[in-house]
Amino acid sequence: MTTPEIKTVLLAGGSGLIGSRLKEHLESKNYRVLNFTRKGADPTKGLYHWDPEKKVIDEAAIKQADILINLAGTSIADGRWTARQKRKIINSRIFATDLLAHTLQQVPNKITTVINASAIGIYGNTDNRIIREDNYPATDFLGQTCKRWEDAASNFKKSGKRLVIFRIGLVLSEDGGFLKPLLKAIQLGIAPVFGNGEQYQSWIHIDDLCKMFNKAITNEKMEGVYNAVGPCPLSNYNFMKLLAQLKEGNQFLLKIPAFLMKIIMGEMSALVLDGTRASSKKIEEAGFTFTYPQASHALRNILDKY
Ligand SMILES: NC(=O)c1ccc[n+]([C@@H]2O[C@H](COP(=O)([O-])OP(=O)(O)OC[C@H]3O[C@@H](n4cnc5c(N)ncnc54)[C@H](OP(=O)(O)O)[C@@H]3O)[C@@H](O)[C@H]2O)c1
Repeated sequence: MTTPEIKTVLLAGGSGLIGSRLKEHLESKNYRVLNFTRKGADPTKGLYHWDPEKKVIDEAAIKQADILINLAGTSIADGRWTARQKRKIINSRIFATDLLAHTLQQVPNKITTVINASAIGIYGNTDNRIIREDNYPATDFLGQTCKRWEDAASNFKKSGKRLVIFRIGLVLSEDGGFLKPLLKAIQLGIAPVFGNGEQYQSWIHIDDLCKMFNKAITNEKMEGVYNAVGPCPLSNYNFMKLLAQLKEGNQFLLKIPAFLMKIIMGEMSALVLDGTRASSKKIEEAGFTFTYPQASHALRNILDKY
């Protein structure tokens, strides 16, 4: 009997929230996982150096990989969106994606599949319309950032790679991301509702997201853009009400007016005031089944670990 070949997945930007959990998930499925990082490279631990700004990349990692997953990008919630911060958000994604696409064209490699992150922020504020993947990108900052990021990723096709792009929703995790500040507020007895609270939040449990990446590796028919979101988005109000209930319910639902959020956060207030009701139909049609289709299950699972 022959032993099945162990595939190597190379993560770019794999040391963050999604990448760390994805590494664990893929290793549990018997993949070997390498990571490109700007700090603390150590090839004996699978950590390879790159610096997209300086166009520096360790080709040894590329040569070993069968699959490339690109998650690299500075956080969009790290500070007010000044002109400088906006440049950092865009450049971190475009430089990284360009460097990878260029290297794959120049360096002999056996990579068959590239999975690139994007975000449902590409759609902008779309009220309560159900949004499928053929909707146009928004003209606002996030919409145009994601559009440029996806355009850069389309260059992977020039070297004949199967390209899957995941437009990721709000990732629910006990380790960080958008839930972390909300849980802090909940612990103080407040459940903040932003603006009128009617804006949709398209969320996904981090374990379902990791399963989706694995699906995109194994289902070779998958190609193109997919919304990486759960099947049941909730309005901000209903999401916060549910979160408060699951935390034993004494929290005060505090409505924070939109104008105040705009004063506090500036243009970045779009992160909490804009809503997108993204559809998960396409990924389900590709054969994906959710472990956490309902927000109540997803949140309970996370709160149990918190
Ligand atoms: N979490 C979410 O809810 C969510 C939702 C939609 C989309 N996404 C997207 O999915 C990707 C991964 O998300 P995440 O939550 O895991 O992000 P994260 O925790 O902030 O991690 C991002 C990774 O990108 C790398 N990075 C940061 N700046 C970089 C730069 N200038 N050049 C190259 N690499 C850089 C970092 O790696 P090193 O420091 O090791 O180099 C870091 O590990 C991001 O691009 C994000 O926009 C996330």
